[in-house]
Formats: sequence, C-alpha cells, structure tokens
Amino acid sequence: MKNKRKSLIYSGLGTLILFALIFLLSNCNVSNEIKAKSGAQLWGENCLRCHNNPSPETFSDVEWDVAVMHMRIRANLTDEEAKKIAKFLKTAN
Ligand code: HEC
Repeated sequence: MKNKRKSLIYSGLGTLILFALIFLLSNCNVSNEIKAKSGAQLWGENCLRCHNNPSPETFSDVEWDVAVMHMRIRANLTDEEAKKIAKFLKTAN
C-alpha cells in the first residue's frame, strides 16, 4: 500500500514536469515565430488592420516613436513586435 502511494506521487510529479516542459517549449516556439518576422513584415501584417498602412515617410523618427507607442496598445502588439516595427519605420523614412 505504501509503495503504491509513493509511485502515485512519482507519476504525479512526472506529469507535472512534463507539462512544465511542454509549457516552456511552446513558449519558445511563439517567441521564435516573432523573432523570425522582420519589422517590415510585422508592419505589413498589423498596421493595415484598422486603417491604410501608413507610409514610413509620413513621420520623423521621434514622431514614429510616439505613434508606434500609441498603436502598440491599439494593435495589441508585444514590446518586441512594436520595437521591430518602429525600427523598420525609422530606417525607411
Ligand atoms: C486596432 C486598430 C488599429 C491598428 C491595428 C493600428 N492602428 Fe493606427 N490608428 C487607429 C485609430 C483608431 C487611429 C486614429 C485615432 C487615434 O489616434 O487613436 C489610428 C491612427 C494612427 C496614426 C495617426 C494618423 C495621423 O495621420 O495622425 C498613425 C501614424 C498610425 N495609426 C499608425 C499605426 C501603425 C504604425 C500601426 C501598426 C503598428 C497601427 N497604426 C495599427 C487604429 C489602429
């Protein structure tokens, strides 16, 4: 009886560790997907959902910083995505 309880605890621990690993690995996949996308790609996919895609030439570097900060919240972007988009817009203006 005692051994059975022990093996139950161990299998429970094993399952927990397995889920923790799956969770960690799936998190890595998401961030790798984001890493694989360039700023131009993210701009093309996200910034035309609500209005025409703004041309990089529309604003100066400082103005883009402000606009992207504002649109990051509207578009629900991650910090990494917003940084990439801002970088792209600032190199193309
Ligand atoms: C969820 C909808 C939505 C998404 C996605 C979105 N925007 Fe906007 N955007 C708006 C709305 C609404 C306004 C006008 C009102 C305001 O400023 O909040 C706006 C205004 C702007 C303006 C100001 C336009 C002007 O002439 O003053 C800029 C620049 C802009 N967006 C850039 C972007 C960029 C860059 C992205 C991608 C990162 C983006 N937007 C994604 C909704 C969105």
